[in-house]
Amino acid sequence: MRLSPRLLKLAAKVPDYAVVADIGTDHALLPIYLVSTGKCPRAVAVELKEGPYQAARTAIESFNMAGSVDLRRGDGLKPLVPGEVDAVVIAGMGAEQMIRILEESPQVRASVPWFVLQPMEDAPKLRGYLVTHGFRLADEELVRDGDEIYEIICAAPGQEHIEDELLLEVGPRNVERRDPLLPELIERRIQRYRRILIQVEQGRTQRAVEAMREIQERIRRLDALARAVTRHD
Ligand SMILES: C[S@@+](CC[C@H](N)C(=O)[O-])C[C@H]1O[C@@H](n2cnc3c(N)ncnc32)[C@H](O)[C@@H]1O
Repeated sequence: MRLSPRLLKLAAKVPDYAVVADIGTDHALLPIYLVSTGKCPRAVAVELKEGPYQAARTAIESFNMAGSVDLRRGDGLKPLVPGEVDAVVIAGMGAEQMIRILEESPQVRASVPWFVLQPMEDAPKLRGYLVTHGFRLADEELVRDGDEIYEIICAAPGQEHIEDELLLEVGPRNVERRDPLLPELIERRIQRYRRILIQVEQGRTQRAVEAMREIQERIRRLDALARAVTRHD
């Protein structure tokens, strides 16, 4: 079975021998891979929608995994019992949806020692939520897959205080480790802010002027960070 670079990196972030749940499993590729390679003894695959749920069922049966990949139809963490799994993967959906999933199952959430999260958008918002709701950002990594750079965030119960919003924007562990893809991620953010700036510049209100200043300052700081993480010392 061949996984994409993104799914392979997600698999690598799951602790060895963990009983894992994959929320929004789609074709169940990740849990099938984790169990068939022996990295995880068992997995729970959760899927909300009928089409992907049937696709997951077919894939699990064709890989002869029905005894070790337990497929459940349902919403987020709700099909899980507290304490049932050692790690949870939620990947390939937006940060808002992930936050809702975490909020709606407080008992399951509190029982999980390790989350592997890969939001498709709004990663800064997810980081902000995690560090203000009893998590620390235990590990982070960027992965290139096709034209995209994906942000993987591993969260564990704990305390973390992040004052500088710039770190929430690109990930404190990515900065500490000088992730090789970080300069490119920052450059993409800067380009996005430049596009927003062009739109804001049309406005003549006081609010538009303030927004422009804030965006210009954010671009300046991101630019400085990109230079700092590419410095060779
Ligand atoms: C884009 S796919 C990502 C699949 C896989 N996790 C990956 O990263 O490649 C998102 C999947 O999550 C499912 N999904 C969305 N919201 C969900 C929820 N609240 N609970 C369970 N599954 C959900 C969707 O039906 C879809 O199959």
